[in-house]
This record gives sequence, C-alpha cells and structure tokens, in this order.
Amino acid sequence: MTDVQTSAPAPSPLRHADAEHKNACLDVERVRQEFPILREMPYGKPLVYLDSAATSQKPQAVIDAISGFYSRDNANVHRGVHYLSERATEAYEGARAKVQGFLNAAHAQEIVFTRGTTEAINLVAQTYARTHLGEGDEVLITAMEHHSNIVPWQMVCAERGARLRVAPINDAGELLLDELERLVGPRTKLVAVTHVSNVLGTVNPIRRITEIAHARGARVLVDGAQAAPHLDIDVQAMGCDFYALSGHKMYGPTGIGVLYGRSELLEEMPPYQGGGDMIASVSFEETVYNTPPYKFEAGTPNLAGAVGLGAAIDFLDGLGHEAIAAHEHDVLAYGMRALSALPGLRLIGNAPAKASVMSFVLDGVHPHDIGTILDRHGVAIRSGHHCAQPLLSRLGLAATARASLACYSTRQDIDALVAGLETVQEAFR
Ligand SMILES: Cc1ncc(COP(=O)(O)O)c(C=O)c1O
Repeated sequence: MTDVQTSAPAPSPLRHADAEHKNACLDVERVRQEFPILREMPYGKPLVYLDSAATSQKPQAVIDAISGFYSRDNANVHRGVHYLSERATEAYEGARAKVQGFLNAAHAQEIVFTRGTTEAINLVAQTYARTHLGEGDEVLITAMEHHSNIVPWQMVCAERGARLRVAPINDAGELLLDELERLVGPRTKLVAVTHVSNVLGTVNPIRRITEIAHARGARVLVDGAQAAPHLDIDVQAMGCDFYALSGHKMYGPTGIGVLYGRSELLEEMPPYQGGGDMIASVSFEETVYNTPPYKFEAGTPNLAGAVGLGAAIDFLDGLGHEAIAAHEHDVLAYGMRALSALPGLRLIGNAPAKASVMSFVLDGVHPHDIGTILDRHGVAIRSGHHCAQPLLSRLGLAATARASLACYSTRQDIDALVAGLETVQEAFR
C-alpha cells in the first residue's frame, strides 16, 4: 500500500479570496448553499441548526460521493479480480489515504476504519488494554469524558483487575494538568483523554499530556470525535499513540469512523473481531492473521461510508482549517457574549481554549423545556446529560442545554437562539 502524498488543497470558491480577507475567510452564505438540509423549514420557520456536536449536516459533495459509489463503483473490496471490485477497492483505499493525510499519520496502514469513535475506543480497550493491563494496573481518564471514553475502560479494568482513575477539572472546565501529572504513576498503562469536550468545548493540550504520559511509559489514546470537524489534527506532532474519530461529526456519513494507531502498536495488538479479510490464511488447526489495518477490519467494511468520509475530508480541505477555525471562533465569541448578556443564564465551560460548543442553564427552566420551546421556533439545540453524566455530576447539574456550531453556523443563528430564549423566559416568568 502506498502512503498518501499530501499537497496544498486547491483554492475553494467557498472562501473569499480578496486581499482584505487574506484568503482565510469563509464565504458562509456559499458554504450554506452546499448543505441542502439547511433549506428545510421546520414548522414553517427557517432551520437554525445548532446541534452539530451531536451530528453535523452533510454537504452535497458527500451525498453525491455516496450515491456515486453505489451508482458506479459498487462491488466488494479486496477479494475480487473484476473491474468493479478493483474500482471499489481503489475508492476504499483512496479514502484511507485521505484520512492518513487528514491526520498526518506516517503510514496509511495506521488508519483502521471502524463504525465510529465508540467502536475505535472499544477496539483499543479490548485488544491493547486487555493484553497490557494486569492486576493493580491503571487507566487514567479525565472528569470531562464522554461515556464512550469511560465505559469501555470500566469494562476492561473490571475484567483485568485494573483501576480506573480520573484527572479532575476546575469550575471553568479546564483540565488540572498538575493533578493529571500527579496521577500518572508507574502502574499507569494508558491515558485516555478527549481532545475537545462535547459539553464544555474545552480544548485539551494533547501534546503536553502525551509528554507527561510517555515520560512514565504510559500510552495515550485521544478521543477526537469533537476535534476532527474544528481543529487541524497532526497525530505525529501531538505524539499520541491512538486517535479516534467519527465521520458523521465531520460532515461525513454515519456508520464510519477511524482508529489511528501507531504502526508498532497495531502490529503487536491481537485482532478485535474474527472473520473474513482479517486473515492471511485459515485452516481448522490454525489461522494466520492479516497485517494492519486489515487485521482489525473483519467482514465487509462500510465501503460507501469510507468513500463519503473521503469526500468530507476533501470538503474540509477545500474550506481550509484556518478559515473554518477563524469563522467558528467568531461565531462562538459572538454567541458567548450574547448568551452571557441574558439575565438568569449561566454558561457552563469557560476555558480560554474552547471550540464550538456552548452549554448553558437558565434559572427556573429545565433544559428539556428550553429545547422543546426553541424547537417550535425552528431552533435545534440539544438538552440532557450529553452522554457525560459523571461530568455533569462534578458540575452539580443533571442536564444542560447545548448549542453547538459548525462551518455553516452564523451570527444570525445566534440571534435566532437568543430571540428564542427570550420567549422561553417569557413563558416561564
Ligand atoms: C467527545 C465524544 N466522544 C465520543 C463520542 C461518540 O461518538 P460516536 O457516537 O460517533 O461513536 C461523542 C459523540 O457525541 C463525543 O462527543
């Protein structure tokens, strides 16, 4: 398998190219035209979609790539010698090469396709951790993890007699790095941490965490579900051992995700599931496993999903990570200012390093009521525990309302959210 050659993306018509904007500013109205669903009119109102942290909407290019795969290329991969099978294999492996470029992984075989972040983390828990954890060993996570980065470790720790430890956060929602450093000890085998919190928006300093963990011989897994759509990710610069992401949160389809693992670790790890394609040879007496990444991709993979994810990466590259970050930062700062000006509203998560998520509570109104009333105004937000119940307990809350952003979010979306929240407050006065 050849490694991808990364080259500068072609200038995109979705960015302003004039000198004033320094080619780093999204033409957000044109970006929005790429997303057909944004033309929907729930209850006759223009859709204000502020739930992108749950799942992003899909650009036409991704929809077309999936439909194009089924219309022109569909066949099973790796096993056939016929024309379509070769085309499908090329499309599938081409998507892997795009992910390699997206993460700046050293080799394409370090990219394992999974169903999503959840499956990627479970894969590491059930293979790497299961074989490396012994009685009294430790896995360290943080207080701001999604259930996907808690429960798989609880399961494997219970099975192996290992201990799950938790690095604390402060009231602003920042990780206490000194405490994390103190908790990484000689028994720590793995540190599993989110890159961006889905509740707080906090961006964690992964490079520093990796240095701390590696200095004590622990491996690092990063949950990148909320980082992939917003940040420029470089697994080699961060130095992490594993990185997990979900296609559907970064403009790609559901049912496809990625586990990046450093080559030497994937080589030594046992397979996750048994079946077709993950083997080199099988007899009733003995099976010889395939090499990574195929060793971890048992059965027919989500071919169209991988192709759709490749198209999402092309879309992101076309917009440019800097331009996306600058635009989302502008809308986030505008949103934080507007929300904090509302009487009785408290923002949850005020870390200086923050991306695209605004959680809040409103005096005297349950987050579910906020979500329900906003919905009638065409404004889609999320309310609940956001699959992070231990974090909410730490904050003394059972639920929050959460507005989350993507490249297609605008200041007008925030204005609509604020207007909706004013009607919520009137209803509960
Ligand atoms: C931080 C974080 N980790 C993991 C996940 C799980 O992702 P998925 O359901 O796509 O596997 C999510 C989803 O919301 C998330 O926000």
